[in-house]
Amino acid sequence: MKFISPKSGYNLQFIICNLLFTFHTVSLAAYRLPVCARAGMAATPHPLATEASVQILDKGGNAVDAALAAAFALSVVEQYHSGLGGGEFAVVWSAKDEKAYALDARECAPAGASAEMYLDPETQNPLPDKSWRGGLAVGVPGSVAGRVELHRRFGKLPFKEILQPAVKLARAGFPLDRYYADRLNGQRDRFANDSNIVKVFFRRNRPLEPGEILVQTALASTLEQIALDAGQAFYRGKQAAHIVAAVNKSGGIITKQDLTDYKTIWREPVKFTYRGIEGWSMPPPSSGGVCIALALNILEGYPLNYIENYSSEYYHLLASTFERVFIDRAEWLADPDFVPQPIGGMTSKLYADSLRKGIDKQFHIPPKSAGDPWLYEPINTSHISVIDHAGNMCAITTSVNTAFGSLVFVPELGIFLNNTMDDFATAPSAANQFDLASGEVNGITSGKRPLSSMSPTVLLKDGRPFLCLGSVGGPRIITSVVQMIVNIVDFGVDIQAAIDAPRLHCQWKPDALYVESAISPDIISNLILRKWNVVKEKTWSLSQGVMFDTEKSLFYGASDARGVGTAGGSAMIDSR
Ligand code: GLY
Repeated sequence: MKFISPKSGYNLQFIICNLLFTFHTVSLAAYRLPVCARAGMAATPHPLATEASVQILDKGGNAVDAALAAAFALSVVEQYHSGLGGGEFAVVWSAKDEKAYALDARECAPAGASAEMYLDPETQNPLPDKSWRGGLAVGVPGSVAGRVELHRRFGKLPFKEILQPAVKLARAGFPLDRYYADRLNGQRDRFANDSNIVKVFFRRNRPLEPGEILVQTALASTLEQIALDAGQAFYRGKQAAHIVAAVNKSGGIITKQDLTDYKTIWREPVKFTYRGIEGWSMPPPSSGGVCIALALNILEGYPLNYIENYSSEYYHLLASTFERVFIDRAEWLADPDFVPQPIGGMTSKLYADSLRKGIDKQFHIPPKSAGDPWLYEPINTSHISVIDHAGNMCAITTSVNTAFGSLVFVPELGIFLNNTMDDFATAPSAANQFDLASGEVNGITSGKRPLSSMSPTVLLKDGRPFLCLGSVGGPRIITSVVQMIVNIVDFGVDIQAAIDAPRLHCQWKPDALYVESAISPDIISNLILRKWNVVKEKTWSLSQGVMFDTEKSLFYGASDARGVGTAGGSAMIDSR
C-alpha cells in the first residue's frame, strides 16, 4: 500500500483528515477475471450480442464484421439503448493500413430545424419536453447508413451474413431480461396509449415481464430489407416513407428529403498519447476524443503511480481535471462543419500544462460556480469493442439517446426513433437531459449534428494493438474512458478490474462531484474536506473493453459488472 504524504503547506484539518483516512481505499466491486481467448475477442452490453459477434469471428469475419453483428443484435435485444432509429460513431484500427479511421454516423438536424424550435413562440421560454419526447425530438437517423458504410470500407464477410443473427433474434424472439423489462415498465403509461407498441411489447394489457419472449416480426423484416438493399429503402424508399409518416404524426418535421440527404462522414480521429501509449478517439461532433485527450494530458503531469491507487488525493486531482475539461467542452465544441474549433490547442500538452497550473493540490477551487438539480433520466446508449486475430480493432458507440429515444415508434419497421436533438443547446443556457450545459456553438442549425460525448477509442502500445474501449452514459462516457485508461496504465490492474473500479464524475455544471457508492465513506469525507460538493450515487455507465497482451499473444475481454453484458472470444481458453 502506498501512503499519502501530507505535503508542506497543507493545513492542520487536512493533515488530520489524511492521517485518519490514509489506510482506507475504495472497495472494488466483487472481483472477477477478464475473459481470455487466443483468436480475437468481443465485449458487448448483452450476452446475445456477444454471441452474435463471436459467431462472426469464428466464421472468419474481422473486427468490423463482428462489431457490426453485435450492433445489429443490440438493435433487437436492447432497443431502449440503441437501434436502427439512432446514430453512432465508430473508430477502427486497420492492421493492414496501420491507421485509425473515425466514422461519423451521428443524427443531424432536419432541414426545417431552427434555433427557436424548442422555444415558446410567444414567451420565448424553453419547452424542454419538445426536444425529448415526440416527433420534434427526432434527429435524422444515421445508424443504418453508418453500418452500411463501415461494412463497405472494411467488411470481409457478406453483409447479409452479418445481419443474420439479428434477424433470427427478432423473428424467433428472445427472453426479455430484467433491464429491458424495467425500462419497458418505466414507459408503461405512455406506451399503453399506443396500440402499435402494445401489440409488440405488451401481453394481457401489461408490458412484457422478464423471461417472456419478445418477438419483433416487423423489425425482422426491416433488418432483412437492409441486408438486401444496404439501406436504400430505409433512406429513399418505402421504409423512409414510414419513418416520415410516424415522425409527422407525432409533431415532427423530418421530410423524405432529409432522409435522402443523410450522409455519413469519415473524419480525422483525435490522436493522443498517454505516457508513451498512442490512442485515437472520436473527433467532433463528438466531444469525446478531444475531452479524453485533454484530461489525459492534464493527468500525465501528475505522478499517479506514486499516489495511492483510488485514494482521495487521486480522486481530487481527477475531479479537478474533469471540471476544467467540461468547461472547455461547453465553450468550444460542436459540429466542426458549422463552427471552427481549436482542436489542436485543446489537445496540446502545453495547453494541458496551463490548465494544470490552476488546480490546487488540496482543495477544490471551482473555476466558476453553478448548479442545477441532478439528472433524472437513466443512461442509455450501447458500446461494442472488438479486436480480431489480425490486429484490427473496432469500437462502436451507438445510441437512441435516452430510454427508447423520442418514444416515437414506427410500427411498419418495428423501431423507435432517437431524441438526439436534445444534445443541442436547445435554448440559451439550457442544460440537456444529462444536465449537461453546452454553449452557443452547439446551437441548432438545419443539417447540423449535435455535440456528443460518445467516445469509441483504440490504443496502441509500442506500435501494437493494445486496447479497444468505450462506454455509455452521456457525459459520463468521457470520464469513464479516462478512468479505465488510468487504471490500466498507472495502476496496472487487469481490464475487468479497470472497468469495475468505482468511478467519479465531474462535468463542471452542476457544481457537483458524483461518486459511485462503492467509494468508501472515508474517501468521501476527505473529498468533502477538500471542498467538493459530493453527490453519492449507486452506479453509472456500462463500459466494454478488449485488451491484447502482446507478450503472451492473448486477448482479454471484460464487460462492465454493473450490467448484464459479457465478453467472448474466438478460441476461448478461459470463460470466467
Ligand atoms: N446522446 C449522448 C451523447 O451523444 O453524448
